[in-house]
Amino acid sequence: MTTSVQYNPLDAATLADPYRVYAELRSTTPIFWHDQMECWVLTRYKDCQSVLLNPEVFATDWRRAGETVAEPWLSLQTLDPPEHAPLRSLFMNALRGRDLNAIGARGEALVDSALDNLGDKAEFDLIPEVIAPLALATISDLLGIQCPELSTFSNISDTIVRSMDASLEPDDKTRAELRKQGIEARAQLSSLVESWFEADPNPGMLADVTSKRDSVAVPDHFVRNTVRVVFQSGYSSIVSGAGNAMLALLQHPESVEKLRDPELFATGFDELMRYDCSVQGTSRMATRSTTIGDTAIERGDVVLVLFGAANRDPAQFPRPDELLLDRKPNQHMAFGRGPHTCVGNLFTQVTLQALIKSVLRRSTPLRLAAEPVRRRTATMRYLDTLPVTFSAENPTEQTAR
Ligand code: HEM
Repeated sequence: MTTSVQYNPLDAATLADPYRVYAELRSTTPIFWHDQMECWVLTRYKDCQSVLLNPEVFATDWRRAGETVAEPWLSLQTLDPPEHAPLRSLFMNALRGRDLNAIGARGEALVDSALDNLGDKAEFDLIPEVIAPLALATISDLLGIQCPELSTFSNISDTIVRSMDASLEPDDKTRAELRKQGIEARAQLSSLVESWFEADPNPGMLADVTSKRDSVAVPDHFVRNTVRVVFQSGYSSIVSGAGNAMLALLQHPESVEKLRDPELFATGFDELMRYDCSVQGTSRMATRSTTIGDTAIERGDVVLVLFGAANRDPAQFPRPDELLLDRKPNQHMAFGRGPHTCVGNLFTQVTLQALIKSVLRRSTPLRLAAEPVRRRTATMRYLDTLPVTFSAENPTEQTAR
């Protein structure tokens, strides 16, 4: 089961532009076995969709294919029927009960104040100074918990995000070290989650989940692990997703103004999520022998669904590499597909809107001030820095003069 396909998601050129690499793979070897990751890699929209819409054969819960899964890993994100549906209802109902507009308004006030406090600072970094505090505040607000200190929490979150790519590291020592750090970070996060369960909860998802918890027949640790996942994946997906969206807008300055139109914001949000999605892929395990197209898949084989590649497939999206804010239809997979589709789509939209509304209220446009720096992570497509400035003129053109 070997192929000669060269695909290293962590090499610098791929990190800078994975979409060029996906296009090449899609046209030459749309399904291939990756020796190092030990999985099948899918780059065509139709193949990705067929896997995600067939949960009976392609399991999210790898125990169904005979694997052992450690207790801390069992959450909404990794379970299948019969536990998945009741757990998902518990969390979805708690989410639906929240006033997202009020959370968005508080987020917008927070961004206003961060931007006001910049004072005479000509240049600032949008990721740590605005987007990360906004994401942490809104996700804490959603859960109804005391907002943790940003630097402590972002260290935990960043370690977990890095550990997701352990299998891509060529040497055993680095792989083992990243996995160890990921386990430790999850344990730290679990202690934090425990402290929220012990405290008197404010109104929010956590209080709601706790009060309705007995109506659902699933073990307690599934609920606690899911709170951890909602908080951590919610925070990291928003920081990376909002960072990618803002970069795309800053690289297409004519688009920013257009987002004042609410109708265009609605289609524009989906397009920004499609164009440079933060979660680039997910995996499933085959519960029995099957085929994808002409490729034979054995029971126990892992299949990597590349959302980032599916979202740029020309067979699904005309002019896939262009940012078209009014794109319709736009059945992108940035939030997944099928029974495990993201629960945080609307919440992400509200948070990004808070940021954009606040930026659009300033008297001068926001512009890129220098080249942003990408983090060396592949599963989550993340910016470490996004240097920006409010300026009537484009600073990169000023320097060029
Ligand atoms: C830019 C923002 C976001 C993106 C791109 C994103 C992406 C995704 C994707 C692709 C999946 C499906 C994974 C799979 O099928 O294996 C997913 C699932 C999930 N997301 Fe998000 N997400 C975002 C924001 C959020 C937020 C804000 C929350 C929490 C409020 C959240 C919580 C979850 C949870 C709990 C699941 C698992 C659902 C299940 O398995 O039933 N996400 N997300």
